Amino acid sequence: MLSHVVLAIGLLLALQAPAAPRKGGSPEAAKIKNPVAATPESLAAGKRVYQRLCIRCHGAEGKGDGEAAVGEQPSDLTAKLQFGSSEGDMYSVIRRGTSKDMESYAERISETDTWNVINYVRSFGRRPGFDR
Ligand code: HEC
Repeated sequence: MLSHVVLAIGLLLALQAPAAPRKGGSPEAAKIKNPVAATPESLAAGKRVYQRLCIRCHGAEGKGDGEAAVGEQPSDLTAKLQFGSSEGDMYSVIRRGTSKDMESYAERISETDTWNVINYVRSFGRRPGFDR
């Protein structure tokens, strides 16, 4: 009985707090699987999120050349990613944030839209070192 409660609390915490982003990628985050297929609908929804919230820093093609890039240089999302290139790593970066420039978007976009925007970003192109 107690173990069930502990399990339930653990699950709840796991759902609320995806693995923390880590330089080089987090093995825990890499286990998070993308439940949203990259359909045209998902890509279109992801594009809307990207244009509303991300383009100003990461630029139209994800190169990190958006005009509102203020402090740190926003990452080039078409290169090998410093926090790990798996979709789970990207998910943890977007949900948790990494810095005051790359904030957490957990309160601004739904889980589904987080995966939609990941699908959209991935559509910018595959490159060496970009693992699924
Ligand atoms: C105010 C500018 C800004 C905005 C807006 C912004 N980012 Fe970022 N982003 C950054 C910076 C700066 C970094 C590098 C952070 C670091 O090194 O800690 C980053 C890093 C990232 C990374 C990790 C890249 C890596 O190399 O591991 C991803 C993924 C990402 N952003 C996606 C997004 C998405 C998706 C959005 C929109 C929901 C977004 N960002 C909005 C500035 C921004």
